[in-house]
Amino acid sequence: MSEQLASLEQEIKKRRTFAIISHPDAGKTTLTEKLLLYGGAIHLAGSIKSRKTQRHAVSDWMEIEKQRGISVTSSVLQFDYEGARINILDTPGHQDFSEDTYRTLMAVDSAVMIIDAAKGVEAQTKKLFRVCKERHIPIFTFVNKLDRYGKAPLDLMDEIERVLGIRSYPMNWPVGVEGKYLGVYDRHKNQVVLFAEDTTHGQEARQADAFDIEDEAWHRRVGDNAYHNLQDDIDLLNEAGEPFDRARIDRGELTPMFFGSAMTNFGVQNFLEEYLRLAPPPAPRESSVGLIEPQDEKFSAFVFKIQANMNPAHRDRLAFIRICSGKFTRNMSVWHSRAEKSIKLAQPQQFLAQDRQIIDEAYPGDIVGLFDPGIFGIGDTLCDEGKKLAFADFPVFPPEKFARVQAKDTMKRKQFVKGMEELTQEGAVQLFRQAGAGQESYIVGAVGVLQFEVLEYRLKNEYNVEILMQPQPYEVARWLAFPDKREVTPGGLKGIDRGMFVYDREERPVLLVNNEWALGWITENNPDLRLLTAPE
Ligand code: G4P
Repeated sequence: MSEQLASLEQEIKKRRTFAIISHPDAGKTTLTEKLLLYGGAIHLAGSIKSRKTQRHAVSDWMEIEKQRGISVTSSVLQFDYEGARINILDTPGHQDFSEDTYRTLMAVDSAVMIIDAAKGVEAQTKKLFRVCKERHIPIFTFVNKLDRYGKAPLDLMDEIERVLGIRSYPMNWPVGVEGKYLGVYDRHKNQVVLFAEDTTHGQEARQADAFDIEDEAWHRRVGDNAYHNLQDDIDLLNEAGEPFDRARIDRGELTPMFFGSAMTNFGVQNFLEEYLRLAPPPAPRESSVGLIEPQDEKFSAFVFKIQANMNPAHRDRLAFIRICSGKFTRNMSVWHSRAEKSIKLAQPQQFLAQDRQIIDEAYPGDIVGLFDPGIFGIGDTLCDEGKKLAFADFPVFPPEKFARVQAKDTMKRKQFVKGMEELTQEGAVQLFRQAGAGQESYIVGAVGVLQFEVLEYRLKNEYNVEILMQPQPYEVARWLAFPDKREVTPGGLKGIDRGMFVYDREERPVLLVNNEWALGWITENNPDLRLLTAPE
């Protein structure tokens, strides 16, 4: 093996690229911050107090940046921990929730799902989980906020299985009683880890003492009750629980589950270590010329996100690429598959925990930000000129937010129609027309409301049209079809008044409804109707 290939393999082996999926407020920001703390990338985790007022206005990571006074901005954080190189990709939540959040999941090799122990599985987690499940990537569960009262661990396992359809394997188990857990039992090491009281409010890594399960010392420390409860729980898990099965974890069919508290550093280090042990390094990817192994010395990457205006001082656009194979070097020339031309990557940026910096090289699993003069699109493949290929197209994510849009000034109808047609062509917002309506108003759909704001802003600035926007109560869109291809009309369906019947820009019929429950009702009442998440 050549020296070059050996070093490429080394680099690949140590990389772990993942995203955190969770509902807002479950603790994504706090856990990210704590992982950085344990990784030595920051020294004292900041008090996350006083974030509340600002929190909904800016992205979570910008919050960390403000609090810490360091730049951890934007799409990816990279740090080292005991020989591993970790890339955490941001999945914007709150107001920033958008198609980008889903697209980020196309660029990771595994996902960490945070569940708030008191709230269980919440809506946004469900949506993000679905995307991960479709990709069959390993999903690791961190049950957070164990420092206070929440649902019982067995009930949470049950809920995850019922709501998400995935079995879990607890990697550790809390010791003590709810709201007052004293530590965790580590099933892999067969050890009980007891935590010293947190006197720093989670600002420093927490003192922990590990005991062999047979050691009576931990029994004396936790008392008879907690001791016997744990023995009973361990027996139950061993007898009735899922067996540990690495292959099922790798395929995303079984989720390793960890209990802890990001705020008080309870179980965080144990989670990080076990995660690094079990999570996969960069995986091969399907392409037009077959499976591309990361060890392939020919460079390949794809664009998964484009971000405009990162720096308000100058309106730059950054295209984020995920490297799939080979080594990336600054100033290299690559083949842009869609544009069918060669381009030079001159100012690549990487986002280390400390700062944004120009990078000289990067490896499979890494994310690099490229200045984009408008040549990149989502899903574009960049590759070696000696091995031209294209990665599979990105899936389309159905819109979940809808609004009726019309021009404030009816005299501006023409510009309005032009602006709507042109801007929605870019794909961030989907355009619909209500059955029976003309061009005086449109229904627009997007994954997150932020895109509506962008649309409003651009219509005003680029087309000089102010709009009225009325949010609609629908959250689910389904394209409609009959198996025998006969025409779908509003009159031919039952119970359709529970939603809104619209046509997409290709005049295909679509039904918008409030929720999955309403969808079930429509299905029951129109048994031969097909309801599709994307047009065929
Ligand atoms: P997010 O990024 O997923 O939206 O969540 P974030 O980390 O911002 O955490 C949301 C809230 O939950 C914060 O409280 C945070 O302090 C709290 N939190 C996170 N992890 C834990 C934990 O392990 N235990 C407990 N008890 N709370 C946790 P906040 O009230 O919004 O802010 P603050 O008043 O704490 O600053």
